[in-house]
Amino acid sequence: MSLLDLPATPGCSWRSSPRRCRPCCSPAPTGALSAEGRSSRRSVRREQRFMTTNANSGFTLWFTGLSGAGKSTLARAIEQRLRARGRNVEVLDGDEVRTHLSKGLGFSREDRDTNIKRIAFVCKLLTRNGVICISAAISPYREAREWARREIGRFVEVYVKCPLEVCRARDVKGLYRLVDEGKIKNFTGVDDPYEEPERPELVIETDRETPEQSVARIFAKLVELGYLEPEFAEETVPAGQAGESLAS
Ligand code: ADX
Repeated sequence: MSLLDLPATPGCSWRSSPRRCRPCCSPAPTGALSAEGRSSRRSVRREQRFMTTNANSGFTLWFTGLSGAGKSTLARAIEQRLRARGRNVEVLDGDEVRTHLSKGLGFSREDRDTNIKRIAFVCKLLTRNGVICISAAISPYREAREWARREIGRFVEVYVKCPLEVCRARDVKGLYRLVDEGKIKNFTGVDDPYEEPERPELVIETDRETPEQSVARIFAKLVELGYLEPEFAEETVPAGQAGESLAS
């Protein structure tokens, strides 16, 4: 068996010479390679390069959408699957962040922007240290989201799209009822703006697909963009598989 027959070794720093990876991928191949061998070696190199540059690098998955669209549900499902594969993940959920990092902030444009900048700052720090960050805040303003994209760099924007009427019908937290009763003002999508993303990496329509389908589409996109290894896209959900649409 030659090196080329061996599976890529996670973390191996081999780039150009097979000899350099002997400690973890021995035995090294010897003699001249056939055309097939050379092409196989190239694909091993590509795989190795992917393993060393991307596979263990951080990135930020930035969900944006109305309250009740399904951001938190998707964030937790993605988090769970990544953790099961041994990846370091942090979820910054709007409701949670507002109980500590952004405690005391309200819902004026200024406060919302401050909230988003704080979340983005934490995502930036974690991302550059190899953690996968998932932000699940409404983040209603395009400018703030673009700011986050520039700051973080390795940034994937997912628009969790759901008609206001569906969010209202779900009313998971009972807030839309309070809005209707006039007890909450400036509620996003009702009497406060929500600016749809113009060029998100992905749009998920949570009133039209099951959470499993949405999760599968998100993983497929992350693999396509080179943020995750191809294995992550393998667990796909057959079209039409039964399941409820997102609840929160
Ligand atoms: S953001 O606009 O700053 O991104 P964030 O996601 O942190 O918002 O918080 C939104 C959550 O706060 C909602 O899911 C809801 O539970 C709650 N909330 C309370 N008041 C409002 C409001 N006026 N507008 C939107 N969300 C509100």
